[in-house]
Formats: sequence, C-alpha cells, structure tokens
Amino acid sequence: MDRFIIHGGHPLRGDIVIGGAKNSALKLLVAGLLTPEKLVLDNVPRIADIRTMRRLLEQHGLTVEDISGDGGTLSIGGEITNTEAPYNIVSKMRASILVLGPLLARCGEARVSLPGGCAIGTRPVDLHLKALETLGAKITLENGYIHAEAPNGLKGERVILPFASVGATENLLMAATLARGRTEIVNAAREPEIGDLVGCLNAMGARITGIGTGKLVIDGVEGLHGARYRVMPDRIECGTYACAAAITGGELRLVGGQVEHLGAVVRALEEAGVEMVQEEGAVRVQRTGALRGVDIMTEPYPGFPTDMQAQFMALLSVAEGASMVTETIFENRFMHVPELNRMGARINVHGSSAIIRGVHSLSGAPVMATDLRASFSLIIAGLAAHGETILSRVYHLDRGYEAVERKLAQCGAHIERVSD
Ligand code: EPZ
Repeated sequence: MDRFIIHGGHPLRGDIVIGGAKNSALKLLVAGLLTPEKLVLDNVPRIADIRTMRRLLEQHGLTVEDISGDGGTLSIGGEITNTEAPYNIVSKMRASILVLGPLLARCGEARVSLPGGCAIGTRPVDLHLKALETLGAKITLENGYIHAEAPNGLKGERVILPFASVGATENLLMAATLARGRTEIVNAAREPEIGDLVGCLNAMGARITGIGTGKLVIDGVEGLHGARYRVMPDRIECGTYACAAAITGGELRLVGGQVEHLGAVVRALEEAGVEMVQEEGAVRVQRTGALRGVDIMTEPYPGFPTDMQAQFMALLSVAEGASMVTETIFENRFMHVPELNRMGARINVHGSSAIIRGVHSLSGAPVMATDLRASFSLIIAGLAAHGETILSRVYHLDRGYEAVERKLAQCGAHIERVSD
C-alpha cells in the first residue's frame, strides 16, 4: 500500500489545475446505460472510482473506450447484456447503486447488490427504492441483493423525497427520462452535480426542467440518443486546495475552478480570513491575515457541503480562537479527528458536533487515512505541521483525487509517495 511522506512548513504558491467533478462524472457514465448510442464525456477525472465504474458498465455489456488515450475523454456505448450489478463491485463503490434506475428503465429488470455501509455511515438506499416503487417498480430484497422489475415499463408520478438525497434524486431522475408520462421530483437535491446530470440527459434528448430548484419535472420520452458532454469542474477539489493554500499561508490559482458552486465555502473561508476570488479561468485563493475560528454546519446544497467538512476542520485546528463544526448529513464523519489530535490539534467531539480550540502549530506524525475526504484533511494538516507526517492507506485518497502529490509538489510542497 502507498504512503505519503510530507514535510510541513512550505507555503503553496503557483497554479493547480482543477479536474472534472468525481460526483458528476460517475453519474454521467451511468447515464450511458440509457442509450445504445455513443455518449462521449470530456474532462473525466483520472481516479480509481472512475476505473471501477468503467468495469461495472463493461460487465453490463457496454463498451467504454478511452478516446483521448489519457482517460480524460471516454466514449460509452453498446447494448446491455447483463442486468446484474455484483457485490464485489457495488461493495467497493456505493455509486454503483445508480445503475438500478437506468437498468429498470431500459430493460424492465435489475438485480443490484445492496451497497452496505461505509466508513462514514450506514448509507441506506431506502429512498432510492421507495422512489422507484412509486414509478411502478416491484422491488424485493433477498440474499443481499435488490431484485427490481418493471415488466410493463415505468410510469411517471409525483415523488416527494423526505430528504433531499443526492443519490435518490439521481436514480429517480435517470429512470424517469424513459418512463411513460410526467414525473415530478419534489424536494429534489440541488447540488450542482445534479444540474450537470440534467444537462447531459437533456443533451441526450431527455426533457427535464427545474435545474437548481427543489422541484424537477421530467417528461418521459421513447428513447435517448448519443451526445457529447463536458464534465463540470470539481468544486470539492477546488475547495480542498483552497484550504491547503490557506493553512500554509501561500497563494494558489486554481485553474478551471468556479466559486459559483462553492458559495457557503467561500463565505466560511472569508470569515476565517481567507480570500477566494473568481478570475478569468481560475480562482485565486490566499490568506488575508491571521486565521480566525469559524462555526460551520454541513447541510444539503446550497449549505456548507459535508464533503468539505474534514478539510475545513484541519484549517480550523490552527485558527485563533474556538470553532464548532456540526455534521448533519452523515452519522460518522469525524474519523479524521483522532488523527488530527495525534498531530497536536485540540478537538473534542460531542455527538454530531466537534469543538475545535485552535493551536499555534501542529506537529508531524504517522497518521492513517480512513476515507476519501479525511485523507485530504490529514494532508492539509501535514502541509502546515512542523516535521514529518507519514500518511498511510493513501488508496482512500486515490479513489477521488487525481495526482495529489504532483499537484502539491509543483507548488512547493515537500510531499512524496512511497510504495510498500
Ligand atoms: C453523494 O452521496 C456523494 N457521493 C457524497 O460524496 C456526498 O457526501 C453526498 O452525496 C451528500 O452531498 C457521490 O455523489 C458519489 P445522499 P449520496 O443520498 O448520494 C441518507 C464524497 O466524499 N440517505 O444525499 O449517498 C444517507 O445515509 C462522497 O465524494 C438515506 O437515509 O448522498 C446520508 O446520511 C461521500 N436513505 C444522507 O441521506 C437513502 O436512500 C445523504 O445521502 C439515501 C440517503
């Protein structure tokens, strides 16, 4: 397993290219199930989860071709020959559950392994299943698998989501594009990645309105056709590197980044003494003075994104004064806390809230990654810590961030990857 060795204390300066959004690209790949024609996606991030999703689609019978030669442009096409999503893939990547809606819509049946939980929570899929049942799917659970059938196709309905679940919105959205009649999704998730999926589906001939609102309206069509679509920039990668620039007292240009999708993060960073400004083709981020403690609470979009919570907490650990971080989306997303405390942070967890008392500096230590965003939280701390930090289990990071050590080293970080 790979490890990172980081020597802290070097301000980051220079340009970092922001890649395509992981949490959009994964769904756009799944949208390829909705048509036998070619869907070409540009700006696809080169990360492990994309490779896993390619394998999943290929075992469904699709062809996924790397037409740029570097993994950045993928062409998905072909007929579905297998409607089962196996446990060995689904258990590794929860986003696999999103093939359920498209398989039902295209083939009238699907057998998808229940994803099971992950490090940050139990991650149930009850909202996905209830939503698809509202469109007429017959769903049973047995032997750890979801058996879903819609022999007469799906029928458009009004679905009210009790929680603005991103995944449930996406599963339902894709299924509804081929349902008979109109589907309304009330209390739909409003994350920008949903807007990207709607844009791609409409480019494929779907008829969806309501992007960015809490109500999506989908008029089903007979079939979707191929298209070419560019994945939006990764707003979480952008916010993550902004925290790295801030904690090191450096200045970065995040090329391709867009602050428009990071409103709550920009406001929290400004309150903490960090400026994040949109320029032509890039976002400039730098500290404007001493870091100040800030209270944040994670919420569905447009609130503060849960995927930025761990990274922001690392920044707050060396801010002046106290901060409170409340995690309302996942039930176990504080696993970076004990690792940060081993580096000298002073963080106490009380239920879904963590109290952070800022310290003057952190000290390098051997630490362990537990999940994707926690991994980067420890890198951010290591970039500012005195001495050496060794981060193990870097495979968590490689699932969702591309070429981290290269991007950071190019801006002055002392970081290297070593393989056991
Ligand atoms: C997506 O997960 C993202 N993953 C997550 O990013 C992100 O944290 C999350 O949305 C919230 O923004 C991808 O896009 C691949 P949810 P998803 O359905 O769709 C509960 C990362 O780090 N829930 O909005 O699973 C659930 O347990 C990852 O990139 C149910 O109870 O998020 C959780 O507490 C982590 N029943 C909450 O809702 C359901 O049927 C949010 O889940 C579905 C969800």
